Amino acid sequence: MTSDGMHSDRGEWSSKLGFILAAAGSAIGLGNIWRFPYVTGQNGGAAFLILYLVCVLLLGLPLMVAELTIGRFSRRNPVGAFEAIKQGSWWKIVGYLGVLTGVCILSYYTVMAGYTIGYIVKTLVGNDTTFESFTSNAWLSLPLFLLFSVLTVLVVHGGVKNGIERWAKILMPVLLFLLVVLIIRSVTLEGAGRGLSFYFKPDFSKVTGKTLLAALGQAFFSLSLGMGAMITYGSYLSKKDNLVTSGCFVALFDTMIAVMAGLVIFPALFAMNMNPAEGPGLVFQVLPRIFPQLPGGNIVGAAFFLLLAIAALTSTISLLEVATAYLVDEKHWLRRKAVWIVAAVSFGLGLPSALSQGIVPALGDLPLPGGGSFLGFMDWLFANVMLAAGAILISIFFGWVWKMKSAAEEIRQGYPNVGKLLTAFDIMLRFVCPALILVVLIYLFISIG
Ligand code: TRP
Repeated sequence: MTSDGMHSDRGEWSSKLGFILAAAGSAIGLGNIWRFPYVTGQNGGAAFLILYLVCVLLLGLPLMVAELTIGRFSRRNPVGAFEAIKQGSWWKIVGYLGVLTGVCILSYYTVMAGYTIGYIVKTLVGNDTTFESFTSNAWLSLPLFLLFSVLTVLVVHGGVKNGIERWAKILMPVLLFLLVVLIIRSVTLEGAGRGLSFYFKPDFSKVTGKTLLAALGQAFFSLSLGMGAMITYGSYLSKKDNLVTSGCFVALFDTMIAVMAGLVIFPALFAMNMNPAEGPGLVFQVLPRIFPQLPGGNIVGAAFFLLLAIAALTSTISLLEVATAYLVDEKHWLRRKAVWIVAAVSFGLGLPSALSQGIVPALGDLPLPGGGSFLGFMDWLFANVMLAAGAILISIFFGWVWKMKSAAEEIRQGYPNVGKLLTAFDIMLRFVCPALILVVLIYLFISIG
């Protein structure tokens, strides 16, 4: 069936800006504000930042355009998209893996997202219990997890234009505004300069293979690549839109927000003489100790966690949308039914993750990669392994199976003069992406042992 046949009621973004905000909303999330600063801190600061920017430009951007193109050409969810381009082939398995990965990332991501809501209130009232005692309180973390799941459902329920796009248009500018306020506060603290030089003055002697791998993984996760989220969002783009510039805007916004989050965190950290290599707890453990030392600290702190919750919501929306689009397109379910059922499955899958943060000690101490907790394992398996596997398969599919020659026709609709850029993307997708990601995957498996 062609795009104007039975799928004409799928919905479409109302404008290019609406799409960009929604896609940027997907990309910008806990990955930028929670994960990026702590990974940067652990990997030595500025040198990591540069490697990260290189990964975004050389690998992230071509893959982003590839996913958007596959989506808009097929006007389907990932499973339907591979099937539409290569009928009857096993490539649609990549789509199924994407749907599965989305639901699984959603499951633990929502647990973390729930904490951010708790922290808004916790910071506002000046409660200073530790992160561990907060997450090990079942009466807090489980209801917050449920609350965040329901919030996500309510937005996705509204569909593409009235749900996702409308909320992204309100939430993204608020986020940007709050970040600017916090940066101004952070860089004007006494002693902020050392944080700025940690963040911007590279020391390449600290770069190892591990640094590069961390940069690559962070780039895919942050740009929402490797599982078909951008295929799905691209499928709601109009044929008039320019896929290349839209993709560039999204990557640019995402990168900008990550860099800005670093600008909030590192100057403040150094001003308070704290350790940047604190690890995953950085945002939740260290920042709440910083806020009380600022004038109006409770409000600034609550605003920060509000910002984190907003960013997380526009991301959980996209994670839920992939499986929803699959069920609506391929199984002809009502959107309402699909949304609730996927969210319920994901909630069930997320329970062990929620319980693994101190509620059920056995789930926090497993002999598995990813730091030992069930949540850490899910993040390792789906965000690292599955996204990298998805990214390699999508770039091979685009570069070697569908081929740039056919894809170029789709890209030229909306961008007739794209020219030489396509050759560059083609080389990246056929050779550089697969080779580099393969190295990452091999490294991942060696590092399990
Ligand atoms: N990119 C989001 C973040 O940085 C997380 C996310 C949303 C995601 N949708 C995704 C990651 C799809 C991978 C794939 O927090």
